Amino acid sequence: MATNPETVSTGPSTDLHKRALRVMPDGVAAYAQRLTPEPLYLSGAEGSRIYDLAGEPYIDYMVGAGSLVLGHRHPKIVAGVERALQAGVPNIGVAEDQIVLAELLCQYVPSVERVRFLPTGTEAVQAAIRIARKATGRTMIGKFEGAYHGQSENVMVSVNAQARDRGDVAAPSRVPYHCLLPDPVIDQTMVLPFNDLARTTELIERFADQIALVVIEPVLGFAGAIPAEQSFLEGLRTLTTQHGILLVYDEVITGFRLAMGGGQELYGVLPDLTVLGKAIGGGMPIAAVGGRQDIMEWTSVNSHPDDYVFQSGTFSAFPMSVAAGIATIQTLAEERLVDYTNAMGELIRDGLRRLCSERRIAAQVTGIGSIFHLHFTREEVHNARTAEDADQNLITELHRRALKRGLYFYQGRLGWISAAHSGDDIGYSLDIFGAVIDEMIAEGAFDALRD
Ligand SMILES: Cc1ncc(COP(=O)(O)O)c(C=O)c1O
Repeated sequence: MATNPETVSTGPSTDLHKRALRVMPDGVAAYAQRLTPEPLYLSGAEGSRIYDLAGEPYIDYMVGAGSLVLGHRHPKIVAGVERALQAGVPNIGVAEDQIVLAELLCQYVPSVERVRFLPTGTEAVQAAIRIARKATGRTMIGKFEGAYHGQSENVMVSVNAQARDRGDVAAPSRVPYHCLLPDPVIDQTMVLPFNDLARTTELIERFADQIALVVIEPVLGFAGAIPAEQSFLEGLRTLTTQHGILLVYDEVITGFRLAMGGGQELYGVLPDLTVLGKAIGGGMPIAAVGGRQDIMEWTSVNSHPDDYVFQSGTFSAFPMSVAAGIATIQTLAEERLVDYTNAMGELIRDGLRRLCSERRIAAQVTGIGSIFHLHFTREEVHNARTAEDADQNLITELHRRALKRGLYFYQGRLGWISAAHSGDDIGYSLDIFGAVIDEMIAEGAFDALRD
């Protein structure tokens, strides 16, 4: 692992960062690349490892924001992409591969009978919203506080739950997420309290005949890897059905990760529409919206020549992404890799719990399957508020110090495990976490959280 503790702040990377700052705000292409004091500039990746410019390896717990479920440069994905590249079918061109990928999604995701492809999760969520609006003739949407559904206007509301502006839990404030939204957009997006069926019911019933859809992550991802409670999801299904509201699962993180059929297979509670992304491209850009045939049919020009829902895109079903997606899903299935990554997830969650309890630190380990998070708080973490109220500085500092010892995290956020992570990787990482926590204990950082 990285031996030079200053790898991230000196040397050739700093020269690159100076150059980057001259041409990109913060020197990065996107928010997700930001790191303090500068991004980790990479020279390559393989399996569970990424490599910095000096060739130092890091165990990668970000794995392409969760998209690389098989790890980096999996030979079957590389072969699939090379095959598509050599075949040369252009974007917008039609080839059998896209049918194969569509068949795989319909085969594995229990509620999906028809799919359409888009390049990103953002666009697939937006497509689901358009379809649901048309199918119901209503325009309001319900989303849960803390949920991240990509960066389209309708869902850039209350993506976090900061104490200063979140309002009453009985009716969470609608807070634009680092952008200025027109009032009509905010008015159309109702914010609901996650894992709180009584209050969610009250809010939905007030506007039931105006709400087209309720979108939910079966496991709140960026808000802290917080699973929905079984009874909550079941109640939400009943409630939405009662009021003719479409239930949309955003399975961009959970699809082909918690189970082959995602959160809906795990919980056994089916939505009307599903959004998939990340894993279905194994690290290449592709996403999908899918669902019941009668609802998806709204995108059919043949069935609705005069009032179909427009859904398109220059790079929808991009051939290289489709090939990577087929390789990923077939490999996951053939080698039963979801079971494997879930077991690795248990291993790291158990290890983190043990590390904290041995040191008498109040902490909550959340997550399910192959995602995990560590919240430094005495409170049980069951929604975005309780996650937000944990000590954000401590987890960010822990990740920052872990980086210097060779573990790469989306700082302060959840970790993802891929099929390339070994038991030894997990054991090694837990040792690093233990050492970093001990160092921070010695500095008094955990005094307020120790018994
Ligand atoms: C749950 C969820 N939905 C949607 C998105 C948006 O996907 P994309 O970044 O591909 O636009 C993300 C991205 O992280 C996500 O985590």
